[in-house]
Amino acid sequence: MSVSASSFRIEDMFSVAGTTVLVTGGGSGLGKSISAAFATNGAKVIIVGRRKAVLEATAKEIGGDVVCIQGDVSSKQGVEAIMKEVGEVTCTLDTLVNCAGISIPWKNPSDAHEDPDVVSKMMSEVDDADWTMTNNINVNAPYFMTTFAVPFLRKSDNPSVIIISSVAGLANQRANGSFTYGVSKAAAVHLSSMLAGRLHPMKIRVNCICPGLFPTEMTAQKGQDGELTLGRMGTKAAMRSTIGRPGKPQEMAAPVLLLASKGGHYLNDVCLNVDGGRWLVMKGIYDGIHLPEETYID
Ligand SMILES: NC(=O)c1ccc[n+]([C@@H]2O[C@H](COP(=O)([O-])OP(=O)(O)OC[C@H]3O[C@@H](n4cnc5c(N)ncnc54)[C@H](OP(=O)(O)O)[C@@H]3O)[C@@H](O)[C@H]2O)c1
Repeated sequence: MSVSASSFRIEDMFSVAGTTVLVTGGGSGLGKSISAAFATNGAKVIIVGRRKAVLEATAKEIGGDVVCIQGDVSSKQGVEAIMKEVGEVTCTLDTLVNCAGISIPWKNPSDAHEDPDVVSKMMSEVDDADWTMTNNINVNAPYFMTTFAVPFLRKSDNPSVIIISSVAGLANQRANGSFTYGVSKAAAVHLSSMLAGRLHPMKIRVNCICPGLFPTEMTAQKGQDGELTLGRMGTKAAMRSTIGRPGKPQEMAAPVLLLASKGGHYLNDVCLNVDGGRWLVMKGIYDGIHLPEETYID
């Protein structure tokens, strides 16, 4: 294989300049970091979320060519309305990032995991609506967003879809997560794979990312200075990784740029864990990987 005719220049391999990207949940957290990375590097970015003021503040903060679409991805009808508006802005999408997500916590969380009465109570308090809403946003939404985006993606010469799942979909995070969240994120991993299997005739690549712990509105509390700080469990969970800390915004954005760019053209049906080695620790507990005692979660 000759390398002389190939370009190994960063700007040829990883450029997203001139592309058009849609990021659901682009107004905050991981979606905001991803949107900032695309916009900073010359992409047109369409950000979608329910809170108009949040979207507009993000567009102002990150600058570049950012279009805000207020919408709700939790139903097919909502997605259809969003994609109708997208059609007024562009006829091509190069990348769709399905980042919008929710996590509905236990109604009365407890760390008394060995107490049968406490555990039964916690589990029995989960409602139909908790399952339905979580699945609507974390599973159905990426399915409908992707299917409605297909006509736009087919006009691109490097179309791809990225689904933001979670390490919670790979393993049991007893102390941190609810059943509804973990199960929905496991479904999102498989959804990504099934979409890759269906969309290859259109040359659309579908890949998945499973983030570890990043401080966002979902996982952290805002202090008076506006900074997001992880709580006790979140802090411990972040420490329970080989890197021993939470993720930074750029560490989420970089793998997304890779999957979306020419450099990612050979990647399809990949599930990337972007977690500082958290999954390694989560699955490795039985084969001797041992971290300092204070990192063990109650
Ligand atoms: N932070 C982490 O440690 C972590 C770890 C693993 C996976 N994740 C995943 O990363 C993704 C982003 O989460 P995040 O941590 O960045 O939290 P976040 O800041 O709360 O972001 C969630 C985003 O989804 C949007 N959203 C929620 N429901 C929506 C709906 N029905 N329609 C349209 N938009 C909706 C929210 O905007 P509106 O409220 O304005 O609609 C918000 O911008 C989620 O899928 C989450 O599960 C996060």
